[in-house]
Amino acid sequence: MQFSDAALPAYPRLTEHLLADVAVIGGGMAGILTASALRDAGLRVVLLEEDRLAGGVTARTTARVSAQHGLFCERLVRDFGEHLARQYVMAQLHAVKQYRDLAASRGIGCGLTEQTSRVCTAPNGPDLSREHAAALLLGAPAELQAVHGLPFPVREALCFTGQASLEPAPLLAALLPGLDIYERSPVRDIRGRTVRCDGGSVEAAEIVVATRYPMLERWGFYHLKLRQEQAYLLALENAPRIDGWYLDADTRGWSLQQRGDTLILSGGLHRCGGNQGDSYERLRAQAKLWFPEAREVAAWSSQDCVTLDGVPYIGRYSAATPHLHVAAGFGRWGMTNSMVAATLLTAEILGKHYPYADVFSPARFFPSASIEAMMEGALYAARGKSRRLYTAAERETANIALGNAAIVKHHGKQYGVYRDERGGLHAVSPVCPHRGCALEWNADEKTWDCPCHGSRFDYTGKRLYHPAKAALKQFDATEL
Ligand SMILES: Cc1cc2nc3c(=O)[nH]c(=O)nc-3n(C[C@H](O)[C@H](O)[C@H](O)COP(=O)(O)OP(=O)(O)OC[C@H]3O[C@@H](n4cnc5c(N)ncnc54)[C@H](O)[C@@H]3O)c2cc1C
Ligand code: FES
Repeated sequence: MQFSDAALPAYPRLTEHLLADVAVIGGGMAGILTASALRDAGLRVVLLEEDRLAGGVTARTTARVSAQHGLFCERLVRDFGEHLARQYVMAQLHAVKQYRDLAASRGIGCGLTEQTSRVCTAPNGPDLSREHAAALLLGAPAELQAVHGLPFPVREALCFTGQASLEPAPLLAALLPGLDIYERSPVRDIRGRTVRCDGGSVEAAEIVVATRYPMLERWGFYHLKLRQEQAYLLALENAPRIDGWYLDADTRGWSLQQRGDTLILSGGLHRCGGNQGDSYERLRAQAKLWFPEAREVAAWSSQDCVTLDGVPYIGRYSAATPHLHVAAGFGRWGMTNSMVAATLLTAEILGKHYPYADVFSPARFFPSASIEAMMEGALYAARGKSRRLYTAAERETANIALGNAAIVKHHGKQYGVYRDERGGLHAVSPVCPHRGCALEWNADEKTWDCPCHGSRFDYTGKRLYHPAKAALKQFDATEL
């Protein structure tokens, strides 16, 4: 279900030194919307993308344009207070409207369709009346409804009406003309106001980092404030049609979404590095139970960054870098939050007022909302570091079955060894080049995953997800 490279035009590499008002780094949903908004405000914008435009998480999204982000209103009021909680909801509702206006005013054929979002509880699950009251308090279009037509019992659902779904590729394609874009141009560093790539550089008055995982570690401590979570999806044909989408009230539970003739079932959410090896298996068993007539047409997984308190970081990168701006930590709700980022950062750069900015401030810290996630992060980091020192070799290379991997010890050193389906062996260093945590094997995706900050690598060592900047070191497996 990912859209392909061909969905968007191709752009050259950066090979010169350019001057710009703003350099936007990262060509996903957040970077393209922000670059487009800045260009519409009359600024000269250069957009730099490491690989191909919208080839990151944006290519794998289910693109629900929704202000309902699970059961979140009661929690937000408790952790942030009513004023900031209302800012969050208003920003999301405004973003849904902005998508609708954008598609209509420019005649963009992105299949934008009005939908209802529903969060459901199991028969023995929690009563939703308090969440409903909090949602109404914050101005959300919330209703409690009975649910019929799902193949399993549900106690009740909290619905947000007037949400939307769309196809990201045609929307993004329509925003590209007039932007100065460079692909396959990874930004290696930012010094002062100069953004450096391998073949050239951009000197800009303002710089936006929209790389999903903030790429600069000198400022902002984002590696201490973000975790990455991976979810698995199946696309099913010949399943009974549902209306809009339904989410389990448990964030680690299922979700169902109708997209055209296809039903998307997702679930199996876990922190990166915590794969149990049976995520697709469990999802397929669920699909078989609920939709026995359905046919699987695609399966994929993707991951997103989550902040300590669940609200994205959008605003100044750090107090020490007033010309640097960031948009990160969308927590699988990056459609509306990318639009929030585009609007907020454009206002910030132009020195204008955006009424919902405070709740997104990257400088905020609400202890009650953040301590638990901080402790969990510290635990994962400690485990990742110590596992490297104390884990014994799991197996001999000869004992690794087809399609399996293991940590192998040879002359006192550890190697991550995978035997492919044809018997070929692939050996890499099982140590994350980001900050040295021990990598875990993800049997579902055949990747080496880092439990500390969520970098992931394929079995040949190629880096798939940041924050690691380098690939894993490869070794000759026949010598092990
Ligand atoms: C399974 C799943 C389902 C989802 N479904 C929904 C949904 O229904 N609704 C919703 O609102 N959200 C959803 N999301 C979340 C949403 O898709 C993401 O939050 C959003 O796409 C992220 O956009 P982005 O621009 O931040 O990141 P990306 O799309 O990953 O873009 C970041 C870009 O930065 C580039 N980059 C990185 N480093 C550099 C560098 N050094 N130099 C240059 N470029 C660089 C990358 O190559 C990439 O193209 C979902 C997420 C997942 C995982
Ligand atoms: S140590 Fe940070 S991602 Fe691996």
